[in-house]
Amino acid sequence: MVTKYWKLKNDEPLEPQLEQAAQLLREGEVVAFPTETVYGLGADGLNGDACRKIYAAKGRPADNPLILHISEMEEIEPLTSGLSPMAKKLMAAFWPGPMTLIVPKSSIIPEVVTAGQETVAVRFPSNQVARKLIHLAGRPIAAPSANKSGKPSPTNARDVLQDMDGVIGGVLDGGSCDIGVESTIIDTTGPVPVILRPGGITEEMIQEVMGDVKLDPGLVRPDQKPKAPGMKYRHYAPKAPMYLIEGPEAGLGVIRAAILAEAGGLKVGVLALDETIKHLPRVHPNLVICDGGHDLASLAENLYTELREFDRQQVDVILGEGVATHDLGLAIMNRMRKSAGHNILVYENGLYRLQSGQAPEFLQAMLE
Ligand code: TXA
Ligand code: MG
Repeated sequence: MVTKYWKLKNDEPLEPQLEQAAQLLREGEVVAFPTETVYGLGADGLNGDACRKIYAAKGRPADNPLILHISEMEEIEPLTSGLSPMAKKLMAAFWPGPMTLIVPKSSIIPEVVTAGQETVAVRFPSNQVARKLIHLAGRPIAAPSANKSGKPSPTNARDVLQDMDGVIGGVLDGGSCDIGVESTIIDTTGPVPVILRPGGITEEMIQEVMGDVKLDPGLVRPDQKPKAPGMKYRHYAPKAPMYLIEGPEAGLGVIRAAILAEAGGLKVGVLALDETIKHLPRVHPNLVICDGGHDLASLAENLYTELREFDRQQVDVILGEGVATHDLGLAIMNRMRKSAGHNILVYENGLYRLQSGQAPEFLQAMLE
């Protein structure tokens, strides 16, 4: 299959190209498009055969349901058998934006979208390209992140094409995504909102509006099954083994580990904040430095592009700097811990303590 490519330019009208993409969607083809979080792999959400093509393109397990995307608030009505007051309050506060709500499903939704759940995931994105495309298609658009299952989500069209060129009908290139990590998923079917996946709308923001919010136990306890089926899979995985250094001196721990790994003859990828990176040599043949930026927002925005950059540069090992799990840090650490396959070390008082998973060979002598 030849994948169509549309480059959207800010100073030109979007409609002609969006209309072509919408036409493909109506014909039951799969089209990748930008949202404010990550690129989505879209298909007609009311057409079961079209949605099955999404699973095939991604290599996605059949038990992992899709999110339906809408272009106006009221388009949720036909998709659900009823909205709780809690859901309505969340919608008013955070839509359009990086929030997905789990609501009771209606009978018009194909089985393949919900993968056997009694509920459906719905999201109203704020990205203008996404909204116009959904509007022009004239139906809800089912869209998971536009990566092959297991890989980091794409946040630009080049990364989409790396996984999907020749596999899907088309890609709309609307530039880089603002937020960089996927939407916050909130279950609205119980007495209080429950975060099933942390994202751009933070626990603190929800707390402020709703007064009460819980985290799905499956997010914090490894022995609990996550309520969002997709959260149980290994995700966001770069090719090289990754180790996450956490703790109050995480940055220093990353620097020392990078020096040791490099001295051991390894090509080392480092993903850290500005503050840490400025202590590392800029030009060095065996160090691939990915700058996470100066704050949580820039770290989130850069995270997936940089994990993919390590693959392109074929590093032997990746070291990531952990951040505190407040605000966007919760979403970032949820993704980074998975990328690292839960290989987590805490650096404190000049020593590394293994928190979970495995420690690399080159740190064995410095383990507490
Ligand atoms: O930001 C986003 O949400 C992006 C963009 C494209 O909108 N989409 C996205 O989709 O991240 P995906 O498929 O990669 O993640 C959807 C998650 C999966 O973990 C899935 O298991 C969960 O949502 N999910 C979908 N329907 C659900 C349901 N009825 N109950 C619980 N979890 C559900
Ligand atoms: Mg995904």
